Amino acid sequence: MNDSNAPALRVRDLRKTYDNGVEALKGVSLDVQPGDFYALLGPNGAGKSTLIGIVSSLVNKTSGEVSVFGTDIDADRDAAMRLIGLVPQEINFNMFEKPLDICVNYAGFYGVPRAQALVRAEEVLRGAQLWDKADKMSRTLSGGMKRRLMIARAMMTQPRLLILDEPTAGVDIEIRRGMWKTLREINAAGTTIILTTHYLEEAESLCRNLAIIDHGRIVERGPMKSLLAMLDVEGFLFDIEGAVPAALPTIEGATLIAADGHTLDLDMPRAMDLNRVFAAFEAAGIRVRSMRTKTNRLEELFVRLTSKQDHADQERAA
Ligand SMILES: Nc1ncnc2c1ncn2[C@@H]1O[C@H](COP(=O)(O)OP(=O)(O)OP(=O)(O)O)[C@@H](O)[C@H]1O
Ligand SMILES: [Mg+2]
Repeated sequence: MNDSNAPALRVRDLRKTYDNGVEALKGVSLDVQPGDFYALLGPNGAGKSTLIGIVSSLVNKTSGEVSVFGTDIDADRDAAMRLIGLVPQEINFNMFEKPLDICVNYAGFYGVPRAQALVRAEEVLRGAQLWDKADKMSRTLSGGMKRRLMIARAMMTQPRLLILDEPTAGVDIEIRRGMWKTLREINAAGTTIILTTHYLEEAESLCRNLAIIDHGRIVERGPMKSLLAMLDVEGFLFDIEGAVPAALPTIEGATLIAADGHTLDLDMPRAMDLNRVFAAFEAAGIRVRSMRTKTNRLEELFVRLTSKQDHADQERAA
C-alpha cells in the first residue's frame, strides 16, 4: 500500500542487536511527515547510522516495523527502496569515473533508461553546481564537490525521501553552507529530507523537526523551535572547596546536582541572577573555588537529556 496520507517514514518499536551483542536500537518509534526536513541528532554510537541502515535495507532489523510512504519494508522492500535516495556517511563512488557517468550508471542500476538518465544527470549536476565538472575525473574534485556529487547521485532516481548520514561531517563551514543551500532547494522542490548530524547549528539552520537519539533510544523530539526554547537555560560548573555536602541547597527555578565529589552542576534560566545562587551556596557553607560555563549548547543539551536517560535506566533496573 502506498497511500498519499501516509508519513514519509514511519518507524515503530525498532530494535537492533548486532551479532556481537551490541544493542544499537532499543525500541525507536518516529514519524516523519511528507515534505518535512527532519534531523536525527545524536552523539557517536547513538544508533543513527543503524537506524538509517535499516530504513534503507542495508542492515537487517531485529524487530519492529518500518514503512516508507505507507510501504512496509518487509512487505515490499523493492518498492520502499525505490522511494528512497541514500547519501551514506562515507564517500563511496569510484574516483576514476566522471560525475556524469557516476550519475547515469547509478540511475541505470535502478532501471532508468540511458537517454532519460542523461537528461536527469544534467539537472542534478547543475543543481549541485557540478555541471562544469561533469566530464572531469571525480578524483580531481574538491572535498565539498565530492559531497555534492554524493547528493546529486542520490537525486538521480527522483526519490521522495532523501536520507543523508552526516553529509557535512568534516567539511569546512563554507562548503557546509553551500550544501545547505542545495539541500534547501531539494526540500523546497518537494522531497522529504532526513539527515543525521552532530552539529546543532546544522539542524537549527535546516530542519523543522528533530529527534535526539542516544544509546539507541529517542530522548527528545519535536519541532526545532521548542527544542531551542529548552536551551534558554544556562549551565555552570562550580569547583568547590572540600567535599560536596550530602544535602544540596534548593535554588528555586534552578537545578543543582553534584557532578562529582567536588563539582556542582547548575542549570538555571538565562534571566536568573547568579547572586541568588551564591547566596544559597553561602548559606549552605559551600565555598566556590572556580566556576565555568557549560558552553557547547548541543553538548549541554545531550548531557541534560542523557543524564535524565541514565536516571530512567537506573530506575528501570532497580
Ligand atoms: N556492524 C556492526 N557490528 C557490531 N556493532 C555495530 C555495527 N555497526 C554499529 N555497531 C554498534 O552499534 C552502535 C550504534 O552505532 P551507529 O553506527 O548506528 O551509531 P551512530 O549514531 O551512527 O554513530 P556515529 O555518529 O559515530 O556515526 C555502536 O555501539 C556501534 O559500535
Ligand atoms: Mg553514523
